[in-house]
Amino acid sequence: MKYSFLRFSFYTMAIRSLLCLLILVRLSAVYGQLCPRFYDISCPSAFSIVNSVVTQAVAKEKRMGASLLRLHFHDCFVNGCDGSILLDDTSTFQGEKTAVPNKNSVRGFEVIDAIKTQVEAACPGVVSCADIVAIAARDAVVQLGGPTWLVLLGRRDSTTASLSAANSNLPPPASNLSALISSFQSHGLSIRDLVALSGSHTIGQARCTNFRNRIHSESNIDLSFARARQANCPSTGGDDNLAPLDLLTPTTFDNNYYKNLERRRGLLHSDQQLFNGGSTDNLVSFYTTYPIAFSIDFAVAMVKMGSIEPLTGNNGEIRKNCRKIN
Ligand code: HEM
Ligand SMILES: *[C@@H]1O[C@H](CO)[C@@H](O)[C@H](O)[C@H]1NC(C)=O
Repeated sequence: MKYSFLRFSFYTMAIRSLLCLLILVRLSAVYGQLCPRFYDISCPSAFSIVNSVVTQAVAKEKRMGASLLRLHFHDCFVNGCDGSILLDDTSTFQGEKTAVPNKNSVRGFEVIDAIKTQVEAACPGVVSCADIVAIAARDAVVQLGGPTWLVLLGRRDSTTASLSAANSNLPPPASNLSALISSFQSHGLSIRDLVALSGSHTIGQARCTNFRNRIHSESNIDLSFARARQANCPSTGGDDNLAPLDLLTPTTFDNNYYKNLERRRGLLHSDQQLFNGGSTDNLVSFYTTYPIAFSIDFAVAMVKMGSIEPLTGNNGEIRKNCRKIN
């Protein structure tokens, strides 16, 4: 009696797993939902392939872990998690790679290609590029010491991309708090998701052009931090010079991002907006005090972000090469 809820959740899970298996044998194209065991029968080696390529890439260059995480974000916020960001421009096709937030900035395409080549060799035409990006993002976070989560699968790849959507749907680093909140809400993500997902900036680098105004002209910034950053990001020139988003531990996925914000050491204007006397200050302090809460909220929010408008069933395709449509 006391444990009847356990039995309920057991049956719920059993039914969900059954639906997953139905998708696997293609009896249920109408069941347009993602699920964790989508490749259990059709490509059980997909996980170990993604994991080994990501592990090697991050061992070679730690920043690549950050780049793979960002790739998933920039895929999902532009017409859903459909691999559209991976498509190359051609003479007759304009993709998303030259959009302002992506150009000279988004990285990791070669890693996705290397995974796709191995996955196609093991199970041709089965695993989507969008799913590969989602698993790679998770594995990259784990590699750098962050939390893990169950990646939902079954996304299919787009046959289109949108430069204009990439330019308008990704929030710019000059955004204020209300613009950040409405951008995330327009993608079905809450304020809590916004603050948790922004914790991604505990890893990776930004270019001077994206933080110049903050370190030269803003007042809600720690003076010694601003001076240190100015040394490699002058008022003019050096646009592509890099600085770590988290000055304390730039290659470890921890909660230092939030500690920096409390000391007015957020690198981007948008980062510091989360701790600037507004409604999200409390959440930032909560995550500095309780790293476990950050880990849990981040994992939950990644699953939500990964579920933005996927193509499922018979929509889209499984690309053979992530850079071009079949
Ligand atoms: C809240 C709104 C956000 C804004 C305004 C924003 C903006 C930026 C900017 C401007 C950069 C530096 C790019 C460059 O200078 O080339 C960056 C880097 C990065 N962003 Fe965000 N971002 C946001 C949210 C997110 C989210 C939700 C994620 C992941 C879930 C994420 C993950 C990353 C990572 C990992 C990097 C470093 C990438 C690398 O080193 O290659 N960001 N972001
Ligand atoms: C925030 O930015 C938006 C868009 O740039 C602008 O319309 C709005 O007035 C700004 N809000 C505040 C409170 O500054």
